[in-house]
Amino acid sequence: MKKTNLLAIGFAAGATVLLSPMGLQAGVLDSPHDFSTRSWNNSPSDPNSVCSPCHQAHTPIHSGAAGSLVQLPIPLWNHDTSTGPWQMYNTNNVLASTMKATPAPTPQGPSLACLSCHDGTVAINAYGGASAANRTPAETIGAAGPQIGPDLTHTHPISFTYDANLVGTGPNQDRWLFNPDTTQVLQPDSGVFVPGNNMTITGFLLAKNHQLECISCHDVHNQEGSPFNLASNPKLVKIVGTQAGKGSLLCRSCHNK
Ligand code: HEC
Ligand code: HEC
Ligand code: HEC
Ligand code: HEC
Repeated sequence: MKKTNLLAIGFAAGATVLLSPMGLQAGVLDSPHDFSTRSWNNSPSDPNSVCSPCHQAHTPIHSGAAGSLVQLPIPLWNHDTSTGPWQMYNTNNVLASTMKATPAPTPQGPSLACLSCHDGTVAINAYGGASAANRTPAETIGAAGPQIGPDLTHTHPISFTYDANLVGTGPNQDRWLFNPDTTQVLQPDSGVFVPGNNMTITGFLLAKNHQLECISCHDVHNQEGSPFNLASNPKLVKIVGTQAGKGSLLCRSCHNK
């Protein structure tokens, strides 16, 4: 009982700031990925003005005419896809590299979705297949925000398999990684962290089939982990904050460093 009361008091003290409706708000609305107020977007009353730059309820109908709308393995993907070419993280360029995983030669599925805007080669408003040409002026990430790639040699390696086979002391293994299937990620002590359904590295950070992609570290919908807050998490990173006063929880969740 005593414990419960103390908890209740602590809760009440932080409640005004942390638990107000604004503090708990998470989602695409008002996040950096809310393009519903752009001049080139559909009117706000359109049933799909917030989601449509990335998803559309009936994408196959549009894709035939457009040609450039490649169906990524992303639910109802609606955005034109970049074709690069990209330069991947390459251990030959890093003399101290001890990396054992082998990234694919080009970015894969979920990362291609991000790079379809973030490598700067395709306009943010190139979506919806055939009707894309009507959205002017074309707006690219260079003018609007942060560009990642097409040179990815200085971006954390992506598009490789991180499963239990990569972890260990064998010649093709890295002993300073945690087993992704059995290790729980590090969660901040306080704040507005929202745990997912499965808090192992595999469950919370990896894409399907144990793939490490952009979405291992970021949540495009500003929903999982640390909710969007311009002051504390402007980069939509899945885990921010400290545990016992120590940070880099995201990196230390996978790396035993
Ligand atoms: C800036 C692009 C972008 C916007 C805007 C966006 N999404 Fe997504 N969405 C993605 C990407 C990329 C994925 C696949 C990666 C992932 O699951 O995080 C995805 C996956 C999904 C999924 C399946 C996986 C999951 O996370 O549940 C659903 C459902 C979804 N989006 C719904 C929505 C809805 C509803 C909206 C509008 C409120 C929306 N999205 C807005 C990019 C976007
Ligand atoms: C979802 C798990 C995960 C997260 C989160 C993560 N990493 Fe990694 N990282 C890996 C894996 C797996 C490798 C490949 C290791 C190997 O093959 O030996 C890697 C590779 C690297 C490398 C290249 C090492 C080399 O020898 O070339 C660096 C540097 C690195 N990570 C730093 C970081 C930093 C800094 C962060 C936090 C911003 C971070 N990582 C977050 C899993 C992760
Ligand atoms: C439809 C185009 C589009 C897609 C798809 C997209 N983004 Fe973005 N993203 C943007 C734009 C534009 C901004 C900058 C918004 C602004 O500054 O007003 C942004 C902002 C961000 C930011 C915040 C950067 C900062 O400095 O504040 C991160 C992180 C980010 N995106 C990551 C991702 C990831 C990861 C994915 C894929 C899962 C993704 N984005 C998919 C267009 C996109
Ligand atoms: C291993 C974790 C990790 C991976 C994988 C990762 N990011 Fe990030 N990203 C971060 C962190 C942490 C930050 C904020 C600190 C920084 O800028 O380095 C960041 C920053 C960003 C920003 C803001 C850059 C700026 O100039 O402020 C964007 C946009 C972004 N990432 C997009 C991506 C995209 C797109 C991918 C995939 C190609 C990706 N990230 C892969 C961890 C990651």
